Amino acid sequence: MTIERFLTGITTSGTPHLGNYVGSIRPSVQASLRAGVQSFYFLADYHALIKIDDPARIQRSTLEIAASWLACGLDPEKVVFYRQSDIPEIPELTWFLSCVLGKGVLNRAHAYKAAVDKNNAAGSDPDADVSVGLFMYPVLMGADILMFNAHKVPVGRDQVQHIEMARDMAASFNHRYGAHFTAPEAAIEDNVATLPGLDGRKMSKSYDNTIALFVPRAQLQKLISSIVTDSKAPGEPKSVEGSALFQIYQAFASADETRALQQAYLDGIAWGDAKQIVFERIDREIAPMRAAYEALINDPAKIEAILHAGAAKARAIATPFMAQLRHAVGLRDLRAQATTVATMTAKVARPMFKQYREADGQFYFKLQSADGILLLQSKAFSAGKEAAQSIAVLQEQGAKALDKLQEIVQLADGVQAADVDAALAVLREAKAQAKSK
Ligand code: TRP
Repeated sequence: MTIERFLTGITTSGTPHLGNYVGSIRPSVQASLRAGVQSFYFLADYHALIKIDDPARIQRSTLEIAASWLACGLDPEKVVFYRQSDIPEIPELTWFLSCVLGKGVLNRAHAYKAAVDKNNAAGSDPDADVSVGLFMYPVLMGADILMFNAHKVPVGRDQVQHIEMARDMAASFNHRYGAHFTAPEAAIEDNVATLPGLDGRKMSKSYDNTIALFVPRAQLQKLISSIVTDSKAPGEPKSVEGSALFQIYQAFASADETRALQQAYLDGIAWGDAKQIVFERIDREIAPMRAAYEALINDPAKIEAILHAGAAKARAIATPFMAQLRHAVGLRDLRAQATTVATMTAKVARPMFKQYREADGQFYFKLQSADGILLLQSKAFSAGKEAAQSIAVLQEQGAKALDKLQEIVQLADGVQAADVDAALAVLREAKAQAKSK
């Protein structure tokens, strides 16, 4: 089975806070240590340019985010950790993808639509203050993902539409030029907490209610003591329901510790004492990483070297892949033309259906990818004709038919419906081409 590739970008537009740590950094670092996965983490600094035109802030944020992830245990030897702008193939792929994606798809992107709605509500020109960069944001993100043929993209719910668009781009490109891209899937981490901020709303830069991850200990204490609570006096029982302080504690504490604080709430702990407990618990987890962070922040050359090494690993994949894509679309060495046309058609491997009969006398079929990987396996049919009919339905309708054929075919381990869809699209395309010849 192929190794599953995970890929995530972090926009370099701010300073990491506790919400980023709990919701993204901590689970990602843990996931990157699992066996059988290959992880790509990158600093999405091209994306940051869409929102931020303060060069010093971009640079500072890039340094802070890189230092934070490394301090939290991301191992650059084990994962591919790089900076988007160190990979010139990404903007190049962005262009290729923008030539196969319908403009209407981008018109429907949430971020763009929100900007237009706001303008309309204000009676301004619909595109006032909307840059082409904002409009193209999903295509750049698609290039990030497809460049490394990521299977899984851990993102928040707000980003799911972008992953769907990336699948769309992959399918359109594959349809025109052959099966080059894997269809990515969003991996939504539903069991990671979203942390409330100082004011009880979701912790977010846009609410200005964050606690920066690596503030000095004394400042962390001060910030935690400023988390909103109700005005219950010491001795009065307190409710954990809706308590931002309690929720933040929960994201760091063990089940036992959490139960103990819950009891303390019931017993009427004073808010000041509860805050002290929360502070000490968080600091216990953060303090060792804070020391590592400070050392890294003060050694930008070291981070630069780590990112360069990461870019080299990333480009070892991106450069040859981009060469393959350039060839696929027809950006080719002119001298190669005559020979390639002839050999290309002869050589292309395609996905295929295989029908066969087992020793039990029953009929079966399977679908294999171009590289011979099993995608779909049928159950037994008593007649070969029935198997052929199911194949015809799949060929005609693509992966849409999988629902209907649930009882009859099964996805192979680790295979997604989208992989089947891409393979079937290649087959349909080949058939159409054969017909037009
Ligand atoms: N858009 C993502 C965010 O704001 C950041 C990002 C850029 C990204 N490129 C990506 C995430 C590719 C996952 C994959 O959170």
